[in-house]
Amino acid sequence: MNHTLVVVGSLNMDLVVRAPRHPRPGETLIGSQFQTFPGGKGANQAVAAARLGARVRMIGRVGQDAFGDALLQTARQDGVDTTFIRRDPHAATGVALITLDEAGQNTIVVASGANMQVSPQDIEQAAAAFEGASLLLMQLECPLEAVEAAAELARRRGIPVVLNPAPARPLPQSLLAKVDYLLPNQHELHLLAEGEADYHTAAARLMSNGVRNLVVTLGEEGALLVAPHTQEKLAAFKVPVVDTVAAGDAFAAAFSVALAEGKSLREAVLWGNAAGAIAVTRPGAQPSMPNREELIHFLKERGL
Ligand code: RIB
Repeated sequence: MNHTLVVVGSLNMDLVVRAPRHPRPGETLIGSQFQTFPGGKGANQAVAAARLGARVRMIGRVGQDAFGDALLQTARQDGVDTTFIRRDPHAATGVALITLDEAGQNTIVVASGANMQVSPQDIEQAAAAFEGASLLLMQLECPLEAVEAAAELARRRGIPVVLNPAPARPLPQSLLAKVDYLLPNQHELHLLAEGEADYHTAAARLMSNGVRNLVVTLGEEGALLVAPHTQEKLAAFKVPVVDTVAAGDAFAAAFSVALAEGKSLREAVLWGNAAGAIAVTRPGAQPSMPNREELIHFLKERGL
């Protein structure tokens, strides 16, 4: 049986340019290839979860413009239920300006547009999306009030909450208390742990502040899993890196699908690592997301 995930989050059109390196302030660089890809952390995670076999309902906003049309269309093509995505009459669809260097490392600036108009009222009006759901998955490209309202609604219904706190920002204790699984990268962890540089110490600090389960994504190093009676670092899979955009989204989606299916936390992290590894071998945000067969094949090839 397919499990249902609710994703609350952003949809952006990604405008991506490749450059020999990242420019310094005031510098103009001549880049090479320019491409547009459907993106946004929320939509990337929604599309990835759908490709991995989940039924996905997404809550968010796009503008009444061509980028909005395109993003809704691609999400639907991947089977995401877009009934709960509103067309904002006043704000433009979100856009992300992305620079990729020769090593595939990225910098991103987002013009959030309609994503920042998602409100607690939107969540209330989309309450039907939570019917029969196994898990709620969110990020931080929408207003915190909406994220917290969704977490509250899920908790009242006994639905586990996964939060990928990206992009990094300080979070109120009231929100953290509603999160069952927190998935920061190292940079986000550092900020959440008030500047603590060592990731083991930072993780311990968050756990002592009441975070229930923590998975820190460490890029080429893999992921650190910290739960009440477990602490384990799972190594990353070695792959050739083409484009790192949305690797964290692939991780969050695969982790969430595995959890919703009742797999162990350790197995969910393995799924996350595998999805992230596959995603970095391909260009683009949503186009790089693996499907279920690819992910299972990838793990099997490595004896897992
Ligand atoms: O996580 C990658 C995503 O971040 C990109 O697709 C971009 O839209 C930004 O939201």
